[in-house]
Amino acid sequence: MEQCNKAEIWSSLEKQAIDLRSYPSLKQTYRATSSHITLDYSYHHINQSILNSLILLAEHCRLREKIYALFRGDVVNLREKRPALHTALRLKNDDSIIVNGKNIVDEIFSTREYIQFIVEKIRSKKWLGFSGKPITHIVNIGIGGSDLGARFCLQVFSDLIDNNFTFHFISDADSKAFKRVVANLQPETTLFIVASKSFTTEETLYNARKAKAWIGENRYEQHFIAVTADVQRALAFGINTVVPIWDWVGGRYSFCSGINLITAIAIGYDAFAQLLAGANSMDVHYQYAEFHENLPVLLGLLGIWNNNFLNIHHLLMLTYSQYLDALVPYIQQLEMESNGKSTDNNHQKVDYATCPIIWGGPGNQAQHSYYQLLCQGTHKMSVDLISIDLFDGEMLNEMCFSKIRVLSEGIHHDEDLANCIDGQVPLTHIRIKDYSPFSIGALIALYEHKVYTQSVIWNINPFDQPGVESAKHKRRVSSNLLGVTI
Ligand code: F6P
Repeated sequence: MEQCNKAEIWSSLEKQAIDLRSYPSLKQTYRATSSHITLDYSYHHINQSILNSLILLAEHCRLREKIYALFRGDVVNLREKRPALHTALRLKNDDSIIVNGKNIVDEIFSTREYIQFIVEKIRSKKWLGFSGKPITHIVNIGIGGSDLGARFCLQVFSDLIDNNFTFHFISDADSKAFKRVVANLQPETTLFIVASKSFTTEETLYNARKAKAWIGENRYEQHFIAVTADVQRALAFGINTVVPIWDWVGGRYSFCSGINLITAIAIGYDAFAQLLAGANSMDVHYQYAEFHENLPVLLGLLGIWNNNFLNIHHLLMLTYSQYLDALVPYIQQLEMESNGKSTDNNHQKVDYATCPIIWGGPGNQAQHSYYQLLCQGTHKMSVDLISIDLFDGEMLNEMCFSKIRVLSEGIHHDEDLANCIDGQVPLTHIRIKDYSPFSIGALIALYEHKVYTQSVIWNINPFDQPGVESAKHKRRVSSNLLGVTI
């Protein structure tokens, strides 16, 4: 870990963690609100002194400077020598950001217009298939960051979807996946979006080749769109309609790019623009809010406190609405592919914990499956519970609130120890106003910036994925050795 006073702050936090064990924190209310989201972090083992020390740690890590560098387009992805400008995708104004001598904002704005053109042509039934019938079925072929965000959106915005169309996803190498999805579709009215930043992902190309065979030669123009950073590869594959993304946007950070084209088609461009606006609102908050009321900074620092000082290496995410059922897989990639690292920016092995294990799912279901471990198990974990204010007063949110009380306060009155629940589970209650595109855009940006905050404290690069890349390479080598064609 970089020095510059960090050691002193770090050891003071270690001492405060030890002191805390004997003196449970006072019941204080800690809340911060921005962009339709309220962070209630009253249920953590913290006090004002610990919060002040965590903020001092962030300051000693030059977090504010690093935030400005991120938004300015500095090379923050040190190993790949690139900026990470997912925030530029949702810029409101057309300020210029120069990357490799080019103003990327012009390209972002013109690509947004292109996306809007495609969306409106399809939704107005003017995009016709090879037999002259309008496209009515859209299939996204992609995986990881080229699938999870869009899949989450189609779930959370299900009430906004235009029912004149159906939307489908094919993402893995399961040999039945393609056939299962197209079983009730007709080639003449089906459009495939081949979403792949690299346009080299084996699973995606495997399914895209099946789609080409299913549509038939000389029909790709009407039935394929590629979303990729490698336009030449898409053209070589036979797809001429290409929505560009860029190498300065990581796959798991491409939520606000053309990778989410299927969402824009499903809900309409105006609603998609609201998603960008919500993310932009959280961006502005992250850039300028004081750290003690800055939601991504607070969420990041609380995670550091639990992970590095209370030695809690599991973060459980519980979502309280079926609209949010597909959120956890998306956050798992965002967090664990970004910060699942053990070498720091000085190419040294770290001697502290980095990204915790992130798991979870629908909270109401959890109450009837793994909650027992949460209440009386032997493993320590922290919890993010996400609820939607619209449902306050309904059974679902009442269950969420009662579980917060049980997990934090515990149950002690029963003389039979087996019935007691210790409680004291550190948890954050994230309350989003509603499930509108604006609120969801802000929620995604909140987690993107939480991840960046933690990467700064851990002094690691959140924007590359060398482990995954080398594992992919090894697989290609071994399958070539085995003479297996993919
Ligand atoms: O292998 C990991 C990964 O590169 C992710 O980072 C990415 O989201 C996914 O695979 C898909 O990559 P692509 O969009 O290039 O197909």
